[in-house]
Amino acid sequence: MYVCESCGTTYSKWQGKCDTCQSWNSINLNSAPVGLSSHGKNKKKNVNPSSPLEFASLKGTPNKVSRISTTLNEFDRVLGGGLVPGSVTLVGGDPGIGKSTLLLQALARISHKTSSIYISGEEGVDQIKMRAQRLGLSELPMKLASINNLQDVIQALDTLDGELVIVIDSIQTMYLPSIENSSPGSITQVRSCAQELINLAKNKGFSIILVSHVTKEGVIAGPRTLEHMVDVVVYFEGEKGSNFRVLRTVKNRFGATDEIGIFEIGNEGLREVSNPSEMFLSERQKNIPGTVIYAGIEGSRPILVEIQALVSNSNSQYGPRRVVVGWDQGRVAMLLAILEARGGIKLGYKDVFINVVGGLKIYDTGCDLAIAAAIISATAMKPISSDIVIFGEVGLVGEIRAVSQMTARLKEASRLGFTGAYTPPSAEGVDNLKKITKIQDLVALILGG
Ligand code: TYD
Ligand code: MG
Repeated sequence: MYVCESCGTTYSKWQGKCDTCQSWNSINLNSAPVGLSSHGKNKKKNVNPSSPLEFASLKGTPNKVSRISTTLNEFDRVLGGGLVPGSVTLVGGDPGIGKSTLLLQALARISHKTSSIYISGEEGVDQIKMRAQRLGLSELPMKLASINNLQDVIQALDTLDGELVIVIDSIQTMYLPSIENSSPGSITQVRSCAQELINLAKNKGFSIILVSHVTKEGVIAGPRTLEHMVDVVVYFEGEKGSNFRVLRTVKNRFGATDEIGIFEIGNEGLREVSNPSEMFLSERQKNIPGTVIYAGIEGSRPILVEIQALVSNSNSQYGPRRVVVGWDQGRVAMLLAILEARGGIKLGYKDVFINVVGGLKIYDTGCDLAIAAAIISATAMKPISSDIVIFGEVGLVGEIRAVSQMTARLKEASRLGFTGAYTPPSAEGVDNLKKITKIQDLVALILGG
């Protein structure tokens, strides 16, 4: 098979230029990785694929897996309860977002209970130690190494036994010398290195965490090509300039996805945010037109966030501007059309700006009603009471639809002192509910004061 080193497209024949990414001379023969592993001899009894086994005779249900806690609750929840022995976890994120800091902090704490090794291909051991000291982590029982040659890494690790947590920071800086004609970070190297580490994890029962840089352009061979190979994929994300960082599960063979963990960055490293709602609401100003509180669900946890809208007359000759931060641009366009067509709010010549405060990215359609309310409130300059929360999905004919876990959302709101809510008609639980059936009702409610 021939593989493009820059984008990963495969070809059955060699060609000079890649059809997908248009780069020249990037296509190379991809020979299967040379087996380095003396551990590859299937020390564990594997299931013979040609003879199916009785389901009941198999051991090991996910609940019985003894997980290794990272001692960071926010990290553990995203992993589904901790690291699973024999598994490989991929931590992806933009350069500079804080991946190394997070893993150094987590590993430092894990190492008090479980043997741990931090292998960096980017920094020297002195640099890592200085970073650890800056984070207030000195006298660590964990081991540090600065290596790029994965063959050496595998040989060294193969001599070890027992429970072990290994961080490889980052997979793009590792290379196997046995694979010729491809530099570290190329698709072939990244995939082959990952495969070697996956074999090592499965055969020895180690928990391995791979760090991987992503770029928006996808130029660097990113975690996308690794996602299907590993057991767990989490992304570390955050807006530039914001102090919040969100760890988000994208794939988890041992737990639920869409779970998030929230951290705040500081000079002493990352701090867990166990009460995100209180954090996100701490700086809000009350009773201002265009701001509402959305009661959302992220994974298994309810989270309240402030949503702001600004609506102004458009002076642009290129048509009105619609800028959205933290929410889907296309959905805002749809809501604006619904508000105009069904709710009678004139928005055609208005610039609309939407901001989810705190740098959180929301994917839940339950945010529709909150965003619609913020837009109406901003357009009419009528504030919505700061004691209420809002959630619900808006359909194309302006109907308001139920969303998941409505009771949990309302409970979190009342825990934080909110006394009412605008909800879909089927919500139950709190006394002071304004059940909204269609978008016209929401318009009337806000315009009526
Ligand atoms: P780093 O962990 O090196 O990011 P990545 O490994 O994802 O590229 O963090 C980038 C920079 O931010 C680094 O200089 C340290 C700094 N930083 C802090 O000062 N405090 C923090 O809490 C975090 C997460 C990072
Ligand atoms: Mg790093």
